[in-house]
Amino acid sequence: GSSQALPSSDSPALKFKVVAVQGRARSSRMTLPHFTAHTPMFMPVGTQGSVKGLTTLQLEELNCHVVLGNTYHLENRPGSGLVAEMGGLHDFINWPRGMLTDSGGFQMVSLLHLAEITEEGVTFQSPVDGSSMLLTPEQSIAVQNRLGADIIMALDDVVPTTANDPGRFEEATHRTTRWIDRCIAAHSRPLEQNLFGIVQGGLDTGLRELSMQQLVARDLPGYAIGGLAGGESKDDFWRVVSQCTAGLPPGKPRYVMGIGYPLDIVVCSALGADMYDSVYPTRTARFGVALVPEGVLKLKNAANARDFRPLDPSCSCMVCRRYSRAYLHNVVTRGISTAAILVTYHNVAYTQRLTREIRTAIEEQRFPEWVRGYLKTMFPKGD
Ligand code: GUN
Ligand code: ZN
Repeated sequence: GSSQALPSSDSPALKFKVVAVQGRARSSRMTLPHFTAHTPMFMPVGTQGSVKGLTTLQLEELNCHVVLGNTYHLENRPGSGLVAEMGGLHDFINWPRGMLTDSGGFQMVSLLHLAEITEEGVTFQSPVDGSSMLLTPEQSIAVQNRLGADIIMALDDVVPTTANDPGRFEEATHRTTRWIDRCIAAHSRPLEQNLFGIVQGGLDTGLRELSMQQLVARDLPGYAIGGLAGGESKDDFWRVVSQCTAGLPPGKPRYVMGIGYPLDIVVCSALGADMYDSVYPTRTARFGVALVPEGVLKLKNAANARDFRPLDPSCSCMVCRRYSRAYLHNVVTRGISTAAILVTYHNVAYTQRLTREIRTAIEEQRFPEWVRGYLKTMFPKGD
């Protein structure tokens, strides 16, 4: 309730101030070197430095506070050296607000099944010329220091939750801790960039606890919950997020990595998480799927051909104000490049409205009622 003392923290490049708490959910202001973000927030993914289908001007118009880039992709092309020459990622892509870069290992492991993890780092075969490349914690941080994002992520040893190998989870948890110390030692810009640690441990309560204790002892400006959204059951997913949000310091940001389904954003926010990223809203848009309060709207379906309603009558985005489902069905089914742009624009507008409604409901102390309304619209039959 509002009578509690509100948690906060003051790191050299990140001020975090919880402005309202209801149950375990919280709304905060997170001041980064380039922007003060409001949380809970969703961060669209611009893997190669740009969110596919949107200009940075549109991202601003959509009120996005932080966008994500990936170390592995940006280092591959155009390279962090070139980006640094151009004044860093913010200047290079002309994005004045917050940026976060992921460390690279996860992308190498999940996208390139040729990756191999050793104590030294993540080794993989280049998809371009087949040569072998090693990404160490030191190199990942050096690249992220050159890119210059407001938040940089530790290189972690990620094991998919579906792996059936307890010994491997234990090894990965301890290795992630050893790597965080190498990341901290390598980080050359702590006054301008925030290094977040990533809690690992699979679905094992004991390993998650250990990983949290070891990371929290390093007093980092923020913490991520990793190794999820990889095919585990919803019960397991929520149990681990719940354990981690309960165990991480209340005054620091908590980032659940790889989360983008609207329902997951709502549930994780109710459990006290603050930040999310996923390619889901933008990728699904490119397949002609729009996010709407009732779930998803598949624009390819013939039923849309003569539907003159907007995508989502309750959405006030540029696309919903100007175009009909009939028009969008036409451009989507004919593969016109505008289709991806328009649906992406709406889907990002949807995620920004969702997180804004979550924040406002928490601040106005009506979050449980808001969640009930959200669920009733999404699951009208109560399933
Ligand atoms: N993206 C989604 N999950 C993860 C994770 O566990 N680690 C990293 N580095 N990135 C992720
Ligand atoms: Zn819209």
